Amino acid sequence: MARCFVTRRLPGPAVSLLQEAHEVEIWEGRLPPTPAELSEKAAGAEGLLTLLTDRIDAALIDSSPRLRAISNYAVGVDNVDIEAATRRGIPVGNTPDVLTHATADLTFALLLAAARKLPDAIEAASEGDWVTWEPAMHLGREVHGATLGIIGFGRIGRAVAARAEGFEMRVLRTGRDQPIDTLLYEADFVSLHAPLTPATHHLIDAHALSKMRPNAILINTARGGLVDQVALEHALEQGSIAGAALDVTDPEPLPPDDPLLRAPNLILTPHIGSATQAARERMAELAVENLLAGLEGLPMPHQANALSRGAELRRAN
Ligand code: DGY
Repeated sequence: MARCFVTRRLPGPAVSLLQEAHEVEIWEGRLPPTPAELSEKAAGAEGLLTLLTDRIDAALIDSSPRLRAISNYAVGVDNVDIEAATRRGIPVGNTPDVLTHATADLTFALLLAAARKLPDAIEAASEGDWVTWEPAMHLGREVHGATLGIIGFGRIGRAVAARAEGFEMRVLRTGRDQPIDTLLYEADFVSLHAPLTPATHHLIDAHALSKMRPNAILINTARGGLVDQVALEHALEQGSIAGAALDVTDPEPLPPDDPLLRAPNLILTPHIGSATQAARERMAELAVENLLAGLEGLPMPHQANALSRGAELRRAN
């Protein structure tokens, strides 16, 4: 029986499987444990089930001598220092696939909401500003037949492209023959689906924004760090792009005085890409399966780092 720390209560029954096999402590707060609280809990744990709001850095890993497995309740693992975990021979699990369609749906919801100015229209209807049917009120953009640029063509990017087919959109993607500048220049909508790594940090910076059309809309359901938010705020203020719809920011949430919150034509949602009951329950199942396997010394069903054979053998013994 191993000691496990689960950093938040998760939807669905999956965690009970972990509790049947191991000694499990669950953090009951709505807010994540502070870094000090997390490192105190991790110091005595063999297994950690973490969320994207928990920073699992080299210092935490190094000060957790008993730690043998980390399972992240997210497909993204940018909150975990993968190199530090790998050096210690600790497997890191993630939860791909099960949230692909939920996130692609939200991407399209944001794209449509921004194109058709839904927040303004909803506000007008609920605030008594629906006076009559007006030919020139709340005019938005056609989505049908528009050009969608997808940056990051993994599972979620491809699922977004599949939805775009139904709207008979022209889809551009980065990679192979498509330089990012051409995509930015041609797209009516630019949607981000790349993982956050040192190479993609601020991928959408002032230069990238300057390549976008004045009528273009940026959608980000991936990670806030992909976008230079100061440059985005500036682009929205100047009207050099037409709008942005963000489900993710850096940090999350933004401080109340962050100027981006007051930028025009911005739609913001609180990181709800995977927030369907089914997706969040399946994520919990995968996270528990990963942790159980990792604690057994077995490869995790979804493991984000490759461990050397020596490390695998040490964990198994
Ligand atoms: C992830 O899994 O990385 C999402 O951002 C949250 O579900």
